[in-house]
Amino acid sequence: MDIKEEIKKMCLEKNAIIMAHYYTDGEIQNIADFVGDSLALAQKAAETEADIIVMCGVHFMGETCKILCPGKKVLVPDPEATCSLAESCPADKFSEFVKAHPGHTVISYVNTTAATKAVTDVVVTSSNARQIVESFPQDTPIIFGPDKNLGGYINSITGRNMLLWEGACHVHERFSVEKILQLKALHPNAKILVHPECKGPVVKLADKVGSTAALLKFSINDDATEFIVATESGILHEMQKSCPHKTFIPAPPNDSTCACNECNYMKMITMQKLYNCLKNGYPEINIDADIAEKAVLPIRKMLEISAKLGL
Ligand code: 13P
Ligand code: SF4
Repeated sequence: MDIKEEIKKMCLEKNAIIMAHYYTDGEIQNIADFVGDSLALAQKAAETEADIIVMCGVHFMGETCKILCPGKKVLVPDPEATCSLAESCPADKFSEFVKAHPGHTVISYVNTTAATKAVTDVVVTSSNARQIVESFPQDTPIIFGPDKNLGGYINSITGRNMLLWEGACHVHERFSVEKILQLKALHPNAKILVHPECKGPVVKLADKVGSTAALLKFSINDDATEFIVATESGILHEMQKSCPHKTFIPAPPNDSTCACNECNYMKMITMQKLYNCLKNGYPEINIDADIAEKAVLPIRKMLEISAKLGL
């Protein structure tokens, strides 16, 4: 049996769409009907006419699809594929934090559980966080969660003083200034691309700070032929595919015991699990109706503001 052919056949028979994040394995990205960053995946989910969405990414991405498309079946190849950033912001604790700071607009990164989104006013991704924060008057008191690095970066470029939740992504926190500077010394002409989930000192080294899609676009359009990439290494697949003549160097992690900068959760999505979930119609995302009803509002708000701003 050719597993990839079987997957394609099942998609046609069941009217299913496979969506994948840039951090999944290259072979998963290759078989997907749509590959994107968090914002593009949410936008695609909102407009798809497929009956079944198979989300090859982490659990909160499947939840976002289900919240936007309650009438569709949303499958995730491995429901254990969570996200350290989403886990760093339990809904009950975040809710207490929000209650302790009345009068604040609550902005949450898309890397959150549905229950955390349910106590949020507007969701953002790394593609639109700056613009959405700036869509509120400068003096609006804002709580930003859960990523303290992204929040700190937005504070620094907008002159805001948002209250930050102390969350972080274990992958992006691993990058070190020292290791990147060592690489830069070896490749002086390389441009440094950094995801804003990295720590502030790493972000300061960047020639371009942005979401995975923004970094990809920059690498395609920029004249440089070498790039040091400080984000999860799965993005190198699309970068290399888009620009075969350019060189992409994954920034090494600080911790020498880590082999590379991979998100262990994203890499839990395998071809076999993708095949199994399409064949069995399981594991399926289901969300408590009360939570989904509340969580859809800040996600829709993000999509509305993004559409208005042409993002
Ligand atoms: P983007 O897809 O917005 O770049 O976010 C990266 C990420 O960590 C997704 O989990
Ligand atoms: Fe979550 Fe970090 Fe993995 Fe993205 S890279 S899914 S933020 S753990």
